[in-house]
Amino acid sequence: MTTDIATPLDLPCGARLSNRLCKAALTEGLADPMNRATDKLERLYRLWSEGGAGLVLTGNVQVDRTHLERPGNVVIDGNGGIEALKAYAKAGTVAGNHLWMQINHPGRQAPISVNRNPLAPSAVPLKVAGNNHGDPRAATEEEILDVIRRFAYVATVARETGFTGVQIHGAHGYLISQFLSPIANQRTDAWGGSVANRARLVLEIAKAIRTAVGADFPIGLKLNSSDFQQGGFSNDDAIAVVQLLNGAGIDLLELSGGTYEQPVMIGAGDDKAENAPATESTRQREAYFLNYANLIKPHARMPVMVTGGFRTKRGMNEALASGGADVVGLGRPMCVDTDLPRRLLSGEIDRVPTWETDLRLAPNALGPEVGADMRRQIEVWGKQGWFCLQLILIGEGKGANRELVD
Ligand SMILES: Cc1cc2nc3c(=O)[nH]c(=O)nc-3n(C[C@H](O)[C@H](O)[C@H](O)COP(=O)(O)O)c2cc1C
Repeated sequence: MTTDIATPLDLPCGARLSNRLCKAALTEGLADPMNRATDKLERLYRLWSEGGAGLVLTGNVQVDRTHLERPGNVVIDGNGGIEALKAYAKAGTVAGNHLWMQINHPGRQAPISVNRNPLAPSAVPLKVAGNNHGDPRAATEEEILDVIRRFAYVATVARETGFTGVQIHGAHGYLISQFLSPIANQRTDAWGGSVANRARLVLEIAKAIRTAVGADFPIGLKLNSSDFQQGGFSNDDAIAVVQLLNGAGIDLLELSGGTYEQPVMIGAGDDKAENAPATESTRQREAYFLNYANLIKPHARMPVMVTGGFRTKRGMNEALASGGADVVGLGRPMCVDTDLPRRLLSGEIDRVPTWETDLRLAPNALGPEVGADMRRQIEVWGKQGWFCLQLILIGEGKGANRELVD
């Protein structure tokens, strides 16, 4: 029988996903000032649960209040809010789907307004135009061990509060991805250098979480298929990391790509960069990372999910039938229409709306002092802000605003 979006999937830990569609992690910014869950998250996740995806991933939840990916992140670090997490998990599973909490530490990709000297593998600043991130400092060994304990603690709380799994965020240039990158990680101790050393953090986190949550609880990992940067974490590195992870009890490996320096995960980034996937021809093929995932898949003993650019049922089914992916992730379309998986599965629609058309500022929109790099930065992240605002509107009960001026 051919696998398609409606086929259930049994995971190594024994859990079952009812279909092959996943609502990818989308940062919500809807926590309260103490970074605890709110009824806005309940409202949003109830809709996503009812939306039909077999797997719903939360936006990234941080392990430390002093290190946020953005203000408004949910944090679990002894800041209370356990009842709110239970209500959030209950709302996000009303339809019987899986709801996995994505766990993250942003490392040097924390805004300067949150942390002026964020923790990182090495003191290597981000290279982005108009950088609004602080100067990173190299973590001590004790701080690395503390991060590992924090990931395991958050996973335990996720399990106790009703989330049905967790996902480790090892992609997109955040702390784990920084450790994996030969550019961001210039350590000469056991946590840097060889790919095995760079992968030590993610492996130790996976092990610590498995010990903490037991054998039957799903653990996912989001990993870059490549950072697409000269001298950075490459596709070969990704293959080596997956081989190391094969014995680590990962139930679902999600493949994406890119960092803030090279934001190919949202179809942007420098097309001329190292093997950049977001060229026009790849966009037409719709799945940004499928070619790279195909190279990794034969080495992976766990099921593989691919996220980035999927917009047609045909494209999704082809990726599944070819064996290139076992699960397909959907991100930006779900910021506007929360029920797309249900409509794809029922046959009501055969493609999802594409909102991510490139934002291009008018030539005279910014002064001449604003350089091309800065201009591009505003265009890429301005469009990202449009999606973030949709989540806030839905969470507040106002519904998505498709006419929102960008
Ligand atoms: C508003 C927004 C928030 C995002 N937040 C996260 C996040 O918290 N964690 C993560 O791993 N990826 C995050 N992403 C990336 C998505 O999970 C996904 O990888 C990306 O949007 C590509 O998929 P798509 O083409 O279907 O949108 C975010 C993307 C958007 C647009």
